[in-house]
Amino acid sequence: MLKNLWYAVEFSSAIATSPKSLKILDRDLVLYRTADGQIHAMNNTCVHRGAALVNGWIDRDCIVCPYHGWQYQPDGTCVKIPANLPTATIPKQAKMATYPVQEKYGWIWLFLGDGDAPELRSIPNFPQVESSNLRSIQGEFHWNANYERVLENGLDFAHAPFVHAGAFGNPHAPEIEELSIDNYDGGASATVHLAATPPKGLWKLLVRGERAPIKTRTGFFLPNLTFLEVYLPFGQLTIWTAHVPIDLDTTVSKWINFRTFFTGKWADKDAHNRTIKIFAQDKPIVESQRPQIIPSDLKAELYVPADALQLQYRKLR
Ligand code: FES
Ligand SMILES: [Fe+2]
Repeated sequence: MLKNLWYAVEFSSAIATSPKSLKILDRDLVLYRTADGQIHAMNNTCVHRGAALVNGWIDRDCIVCPYHGWQYQPDGTCVKIPANLPTATIPKQAKMATYPVQEKYGWIWLFLGDGDAPELRSIPNFPQVESSNLRSIQGEFHWNANYERVLENGLDFAHAPFVHAGAFGNPHAPEIEELSIDNYDGGASATVHLAATPPKGLWKLLVRGERAPIKTRTGFFLPNLTFLEVYLPFGQLTIWTAHVPIDLDTTVSKWINFRTFFTGKWADKDAHNRTIKIFAQDKPIVESQRPQIIPSDLKAELYVPADALQLQYRKLR
C-alpha cells in the first residue's frame, strides 16, 4: 500500500452518531461522530475478546463494546470495565488503535500508515469542488478489482472508442493526440480532445448531429482520487471519484458528479444512470486485468504515447 497518506474513504454524509463499520486495505474499522460533530476512527475489533465494536453504542462520546460493555473514549483509551470492582485497575493495554480523520470536499479522509506525523502530509488541494454551486449528485460503484487498476482506468484515454462505443466513444476515431502532462503537487493531469458519437437520450435535446471532438481533462491525486472534466458543447460535466481500497481485489468508487446544464432535480436520475453506465462498461474489462495488482516494476507492462498519464501515476506511486 501507499503508506502515510490521506485516503478519501467515505462520504461525509454517511457518518452520524451511531457507529458504522468500514473496511479499508483489509483493516476493519469503526467510525462515529461525537457530540461536537468530530468523526473518530478506531479498530473495530475489541482488544478484550475481539467482538465488533460496530455492534455497540455510544455513551457520552465513548464507544461501548456490546460484549462486556468496555467503554473506549475517542482516543482509544478504555475508561470503564463494568465487571471491575472499584478496587480493580484498567490494564494499560486496554487501548484501541485509532486513526487521524479529517472531513473535506464532502469526503472523510483517513491517514493510513505507520507515520506518527500526519500533519506533515496534507489532503490534496482542489478547491473547485467547494466553490462549485453546480448541480451535484453522488453515488457508489463496486468493483472486484484492485483500486489501482480502477484508478488507472480513469486515466486511460485510449479505451474510450472500444469500451465506451455504446456511450460516447467513437470507434472510427481511436487516435489520441499527443498528451501534455500537467504535474502538480500530489498528482498529474492531461487534456485531450476526444472524438465522440452523437449524444443519446436526454442530451439529444441539447445538441444534434455530429459532435466536434470533446475537450476532456482527467487527472489524479495520490493515493486514491481521480477527476474527469468534460467540456460538452452545452456545458461542463465534472466527476470526482475516490477509489476506496477495501482489500486487494475489492474497490468501491465513491463519486461526486457536477453539471452546469439541466440543473434541476428532474435530471438527476439521468445523470446518475449515465455515470453508472460508464462504470459498468469498464467493469468486466478492469476485473479481467492480470496481474490484479499493478506491477511495481515499470518495465513489466508496455507504454505507448497515449499511456503517458498512467505512466506518470506509476512513476509517482
Ligand atoms: S469483547 Fe469487548 S468488552 Fe469484551
Ligand atoms: Fe472507462
